Amino acid sequence: MFKYGSPVKGIDFIDRTKHIPIFKSYLDNNQHVMIKAPRRFGKTSLVKHIFEYQEAYEFIYIDIKRATNLTVLSNQILDKAYGFVGVDNFIRQAKNSIIALARTIRTIKLESIGELTLELMQNDFDELEFFLHSLDTVDKIAKKKDINIKFILDEFQDIINLGNDDILDKLRSVIQHHENITYLFLGSIESIMTKIFQTKTSPFFHFAAIMELDGLDIDELMDYVEQTFDRENIKYDKNSVRNILSFTKGHPDYSIKLLSYLYLRTGRTNEFIDEDLCLIAIGEVVLATRPYLDELIAKTKLKKNLFEVLSATANKTPMNLPSSTLYNANVALEEMGLIKNKSRGEYEIVDIFLEVLLRQDNDENLALRDVVNLDYKK
Ligand SMILES: Nc1ncnc2c1ncn2[C@@H]1O[C@H](COP(=O)(O)OP(=O)(O)OP(=O)(O)O)[C@@H](O)[C@H]1O
Ligand SMILES: [Mg+2]
Repeated sequence: MFKYGSPVKGIDFIDRTKHIPIFKSYLDNNQHVMIKAPRRFGKTSLVKHIFEYQEAYEFIYIDIKRATNLTVLSNQILDKAYGFVGVDNFIRQAKNSIIALARTIRTIKLESIGELTLELMQNDFDELEFFLHSLDTVDKIAKKKDINIKFILDEFQDIINLGNDDILDKLRSVIQHHENITYLFLGSIESIMTKIFQTKTSPFFHFAAIMELDGLDIDELMDYVEQTFDRENIKYDKNSVRNILSFTKGHPDYSIKLLSYLYLRTGRTNEFIDEDLCLIAIGEVVLATRPYLDELIAKTKLKKNLFEVLSATANKTPMNLPSSTLYNANVALEEMGLIKNKSRGEYEIVDIFLEVLLRQDNDENLALRDVVNLDYKK
């Protein structure tokens, strides 16, 4: 119930009734898909819900952000791939006893691909070649088992940090031949995902169907709130609750945190949830999110002008910088996932709480009520 802190699935998973049928029809047709949405918009929850909870498909899930290099990534992929044919801990086994593993591989009749993996591992392999081999292995195993494996690459944009400039070219040229894999690319830095999948000169142009995840649907969120609050006898003013959800634009992480705050607090105090309490909830949740927001801000302070431009964007104040300097700062902030281009030369802050914080810090007299009211009424 209003669970946060890690991706959600099953009974904690709300809404997405518009996205799920589209997503599933792509999957059923083995259509590669790219999903882009800002940080904490529920990308991982969506795939965990479909793959782990509904168990509708055979899949491999890899989080690229967690891999420190291509070899680590390839090892994870190989472990999962060989798991499909009953060989567990392939990499550990290979390190312990190549001979025993070679024997196992013979029994499952995967000789050519299995032997190639072993051969690559014993020699001084090229990282990229080994990575591409790991993907080929998944396809071969899927073919052998006559299944289609959905291959989820979470935080895909981070792949460019793991290889040279040609990694995307090489990757595309290998995976386009995979007939038994449907690739799902998830990414939170929208500008980089757009560059990879929607720029004509990119090797991934037109490779995947594009899905954008926006906030949770406010009506569906409200249905869930009503059910839960009514069941628990929590008294609330519907409009006030709806207003704060509109203010977050259904941002999944923030909406759930606000609802959780209200739920837990009133469960304890029996207070009536009115506009004031909703504003307190926003203040408290912004405060609780502060370490994360401060980290975002700290990153902008490492480079000249970025923080000033970010702050000016939040406060809608003009910046006195040469246009090329301003342009570069905007591109850098966009690539950090902090701002988004609204129209030509006009940017907005992606994270609504970061915007609240930047506006308040800049104007001590600006009450939270003003910030919130200004926004949900606009
Ligand atoms: N469909 C949903 N129903 C209920 N809560 C959700 C839903 N989607 C996301 N959330 C909430 O938002 C939080 C963040 O979701 P999740 O980790 O899936 O996002 P993400 O886009 O993968 O984020 P990141 O970019 O940080 O990896 C979850 O912990 C959960 O509280
Ligand atoms: Mg995620």
